[in-house]
Amino acid sequence: MIDVIILAAGQGSRMRSTKPKVLHEIGGKPMVNHVVDAALCLPDVSLHLVVGHGSEAVQASLTTPCHIVEQKEQLGTAHAVLQALPNLSPNAKVLILYADVPLIDAETLQRMVNAVDSHCMAVLTTELDDATGYGRIVRSDMGAVTDIVEHKDATQEQRDIAEINTGIMCVPQAYLSRWLPRIENNNAQHEYYLPDIIAMAVAEGVGIKTPQPKCFYEVEGVNNRQQLAFLERKYQQQISDRLMLEGVTLADPARIDIRGSLSVGQDVFIDINAVFSGNVVIGDGVSIGPNCVISDATIGAASEIYANTVIESATLGQQCKVGPFARLRPGAALANHVKVGNYVEVKNASLANGSKVNHLSYIGDAKIGNDTNVGAGTITCNYDGAYKHKTVLGDNVFIGSNSTLVAPLDIADGSFIGAGSTITEAVPKENLAIGRGRQKNIAGWKKPEKN
Ligand code: UD1
Ligand code: CA
Repeated sequence: MIDVIILAAGQGSRMRSTKPKVLHEIGGKPMVNHVVDAALCLPDVSLHLVVGHGSEAVQASLTTPCHIVEQKEQLGTAHAVLQALPNLSPNAKVLILYADVPLIDAETLQRMVNAVDSHCMAVLTTELDDATGYGRIVRSDMGAVTDIVEHKDATQEQRDIAEINTGIMCVPQAYLSRWLPRIENNNAQHEYYLPDIIAMAVAEGVGIKTPQPKCFYEVEGVNNRQQLAFLERKYQQQISDRLMLEGVTLADPARIDIRGSLSVGQDVFIDINAVFSGNVVIGDGVSIGPNCVISDATIGAASEIYANTVIESATLGQQCKVGPFARLRPGAALANHVKVGNYVEVKNASLANGSKVNHLSYIGDAKIGNDTNVGAGTITCNYDGAYKHKTVLGDNVFIGSNSTLVAPLDIADGSFIGAGSTITEAVPKENLAIGRGRQKNIAGWKKPEKN
């Protein structure tokens, strides 16, 4: 069994934010939740979150239940881990993670855990060109780890060491419970340093393994917004790499943002500056034009979304064509072969197979049948100031341009609405409805003249 302790008590003052640091987002998800999700990939885990600054907000953001431990004063990393100690199982391997080191990979964590048995512990280390600020890994001539010294406590010779403590450790509970209470704070920062357990392990002859992360940014922490932006790009790069390996063509892998989950079929094309959020599912052969913003949507195979289209909580069937400059709002449901063109807004409305709304229209709270054609500038007047009402159009209906459809309204199959009509009453099957002032031509008209 694995007890994972995630340290999330720090204030993060360098973020200059009213929000606790660990709630700042990478890929639309709070950093703390990235760490929780990585830990959840391990088998048989129990999660312990050490909170302090902004603890209520941090707890509220959790999507997975964790044992919450309050660290009232931040007296150091050893002190933080000590707070969780009473809740750990006696036989557990204890994995210590940081909520502000968001891109740690589950596979690296698994290697950490695998490296540990009842006779040894593990510290995740890496080498940095500039190790300033980090704890240094001190080794004997034989290469065995003998100590970790914090930058502020290190000698010049120790500061030249490139190998650093990432902070991530895995330690059998039996050792941790013996060592933690013995740690003192007589050091440069007057803090209780977790890395002080290394010297204790050495003194007791407990083995110290030093696995390495696969990528350096797995162990990069976030202290300010520059570092947040840096890791955001790394995270986006990971996703775009995965998408391309899954068969997606990206016009520019550096100009796509995914803030949630995007699952794709084969031969999908995504142009520049597309932003995806929530859960988006895209079928085979779909193409997404430049500058589209798509959230919580399903897009069926071979559909084409043209430039500058915004889609939110909508479903599209196969071979639809949407945009450019279209807006599908929550509840828009397009069946197959549906066209929604430029400057058309669709909200809470279904369009059955082959229907078209090609230009400059508002379709809200409506149900549109098969092969119906809604002309340019058509408005469903769905709101009476108090209530929303529904517009129902049957199959093969033709709505002339610039029509005003005052809901509640039923326009039956095969009927035809003359352009410029204001329609307030039901139209029976296969009728022509015209609701507008008749045109009058006045012969010999002279335009007024100034005296
Ligand atoms: C720590 C390590 C250092 C390592 C570095 C890697 C110690 C003493 N030093 O240094 O060897 O190279 O991480 O980034 O551990 N925290 C709490 N409660 C506390 C103190 C810290 O929750 O009382 C949390 C902080 O919010 C932060 C993390 O623990 O997320 C690390 O603490 P920090 O003080 O930043 O340690 P470093 O000085 O970076
Ligand atoms: Ca730090």
